[in-house]
Amino acid sequence: MEAADFINLLSRWGHILPAVILVGGAIFMNLVLIPALKTSDDAAEVKGRIKRVWAFVIMICAGIIIVSGFYNVYIVFKADPKPSPIYHAAFTVKLILVGIVFYVSSLLTGHSEVAIKFQEQEAKWGKLNMIAAILVVLCAGVMKVAPRIPRNTPTSDAIQSEVQPPANQSEQIPVGQINSTDQG
Ligand code: HEM
Repeated sequence: MEAADFINLLSRWGHILPAVILVGGAIFMNLVLIPALKTSDDAAEVKGRIKRVWAFVIMICAGIIIVSGFYNVYIVFKADPKPSPIYHAAFTVKLILVGIVFYVSSLLTGHSEVAIKFQEQEAKWGKLNMIAAILVVLCAGVMKVAPRIPRNTPTSDAIQSEVQPPANQSEQIPVGQINSTDQG
């Protein structure tokens, strides 16, 4: 295994592990924890403690995901074959969704005035966050299987010019002759 392969593997692990924690955490909170705490007497105190720890976990995971994500981008976009338009589309949607996930997650766990106001509807925003996080993983799946285009493929123009007869061959039929047959 070469050093570059080892770095690629580290970057892959560094992308997948925090992604699993972030997306799995969002699913667990929305489907298990928040519904369970609805019936609990000391819900506010438990939620407060969970949010403090979760905010820290999100910060670490987001940092590692962003660094490894940009490294992945560097590897994928310099490679031959290069990404296709489907890849670009999935990547653009993924980045928008990632922005939403990071922003909503920070508000759901924050302590600022805006964050506290936002948390009044935490069930709604939590669900939206969970759906966006799942869609991010689905987009990553599309990127993985999207077709790639070899960089040195001749363009259609180049192919066209290859099948054109050489200039001296086309000169073999005088224009006058063609016109005279056309006129009958
Ligand atoms: C919530 C945030 C994110 C999640 C949950 C996530 C999830 C994933 C997953 C599951 C994969 C597949 C990994 C594999 O098969 O090796 C992946 C690949 C990738 N991610 Fe992310 N990602 C996130 C953020 C980002 C960001 C911020 C970037 C770019 C700055 C990024 C760029 C990439 C790239 C380029 C790939 C490689 C896709 C390929 O060609 O196979 N990701 N991501």
